[in-house]
Amino acid sequence: MAVTIIDKLNHLLQDEIVGMHMYLHYSFIVSGPNMIPLKQYLTAQAADGLRHATLIGDKIASLGGTPVTKALDEEFPTSFDNAKQMLAACLKFEKEGIGEYTSLLHEVLNKDIALEMFLKTIIADEIHHVEELEKMLKEF
Ligand SMILES: [Fe+2]
Ligand SMILES: [Fe+2]
Repeated sequence: MAVTIIDKLNHLLQDEIVGMHMYLHYSFIVSGPNMIPLKQYLTAQAADGLRHATLIGDKIASLGGTPVTKALDEEFPTSFDNAKQMLAACLKFEKEGIGEYTSLLHEVLNKDIALEMFLKTIIADEIHHVEELEKMLKEF
């Protein structure tokens, strides 16, 4: 069966749900001298994962698809020697996400302006996440 735009949006939805779980989990286990700001950051990132998941789920429903809200069977690392390693795992996750969004963007480019704008807006958010993580990692 051909992989449709809806399937790909569902993959992104499920990936955002993984991210939400990941950031929530990390907000629980983070420790060290930067624990307070990092916990705030990680909790906010979990909320942003929910925000993106909500946007995508609503879009899938608007397009007549069935949103899949089960997280992908994708494991994320759950133990770290330090917070720097944790942030590096977040950075890897964010970069992979940009790859997924960008690949769908290329498919709809100049074919579906609304979906194109929708994806570009989320990609801009994800790029911002990468930039923030890269800045945080500089000073560790
Ligand atoms: Fe996201
Ligand atoms: Fe993100």
